[in-house]
Amino acid sequence: MKKIALITGITGQDGSYLAELLLNKGYVVHGVKRRSSMFNTQRIDHIFENLKLQNKRFFLHFGDLIDSSNIIRLISEIRPNEIYNLAAMSHVKVSFEIPEYVANTDAIGTLRILEAIRILGLEKKTRIYQASTSELYGNNMQIPLNEESQFYPNSPYAVAKLYSYWIMINYRKAYNIFAANGILFNHESPRRGETFVTRKITIGIAKILYGLNDKLYLGNLDAVRDWGHAKDYVDAMWRILQHKNPQDWVIATGLSYSIREFLIACLKKVGLILGFRGKGLNEIGYVISSKNENYKHLVGKEIINVSEKYFRPSDVNKLVGDASKARQKLDWKPKSSFDDLVEEMITHDMQMIEKKYFKK
Ligand code: NAP
Ligand code: GDD
Repeated sequence: MKKIALITGITGQDGSYLAELLLNKGYVVHGVKRRSSMFNTQRIDHIFENLKLQNKRFFLHFGDLIDSSNIIRLISEIRPNEIYNLAAMSHVKVSFEIPEYVANTDAIGTLRILEAIRILGLEKKTRIYQASTSELYGNNMQIPLNEESQFYPNSPYAVAKLYSYWIMINYRKAYNIFAANGILFNHESPRRGETFVTRKITIGIAKILYGLNDKLYLGNLDAVRDWGHAKDYVDAMWRILQHKNPQDWVIATGLSYSIREFLIACLKKVGLILGFRGKGLNEIGYVISSKNENYKHLVGKEIINVSEKYFRPSDVNKLVGDASKARQKLDWKPKSSFDDLVEEMITHDMQMIEKKYFKK
């Protein structure tokens, strides 16, 4: 019998990579997509359009984590062996604007799925993975952070995710459900949403290099993140649900870089050396030199500005994880390096901008 998986958030970055991974492993994959006035399935269209998979091993259903009856109906019809709850309003800054919606989706949404498993009597059949996050740690400075580190959530997003983290553990203990949290540190890819900082940078730089924009405006350049590749992280999700018992796991690279360092690394890939001068809102990033003839005209130009608009009411300054437990017990380690990630993202976005604006 093929294993059946249900992925909430299948249209997102992680959902799309996870669907590919599970299909390659022979799973039947069901995904929940939201109704939208525009197409929102770009990341998974290549899977759905594969006629060998469409409605044979790959199924999409309309749904929403704020709709209990929909969740119960889908789970009762699909009767999945594994649920990956990846659906969330995942943008930390936006969570300050719509905190109540975020609590409803990112916190109570998880409870709705757990309740559905219980109401339908699927406690023994269905394993569930919850997309927990390094944001739970907030500004805990006892770095590197592991499964024992304390949580200090610092945004409506993180507080909602903290509820989900604990309700998973509660249902594991109370009802013996295989409910596991993956505490994932930041992971990126060419499929990353365009308003998260790495993707905003790779697209912004591509536009400057193609002469479409003069500058890129960013917020807190001092923030430090432990960035991995989403492809490696969805593999960890799968391993977490194959483990002999449900536990909570930190997934991270253990290495960290500031936003400034990410910018420098991207520009280096295209032959430019970036320097910074000034402080705070007056800090400026400018091109010191270019090895690439095509970009000589940018030497001396100010291409990075800081704008108050992109700061958060409260930010998380530094996140670095210690994934020793996953290395030892799940045999998981990241395959992509920071350098590979930067290369893949900037190359992808240079090609994307060229195709969009310059190729007929
Ligand atoms: P993403 O690209 O923003 O994808 C989020 C997905 O959730 C999208 O498919 C979105 O649908 C869906 N969604 C949002 N609200 C929903 C609702 N009310 N009902 C049903 N679906 C809803 O996020 P991601 O980067 O793939 O992250 C996946 C999960 O991991 C999220 O829960 C995120 O919070 C968590 N996480 C991410 C990271 C990271 O660095 N990427 C790290 C730790 C944890 P639409 O496409 O229609 O918007
Ligand atoms: N988005 C954004 N845009 N962030 C900026 C900008 C900007 O213009 N300028 C500076 N930053 C800083 C933010 O203040 C933050 O400190 C850091 O860059 C990373 O921001 P994001 O890329 O938006 O990600 P995040 O770390 O807040 O959240 C992501 O990772 C979490 C795991 O730690 C999201 O994927 C969350 O869903 C996830 O849980």
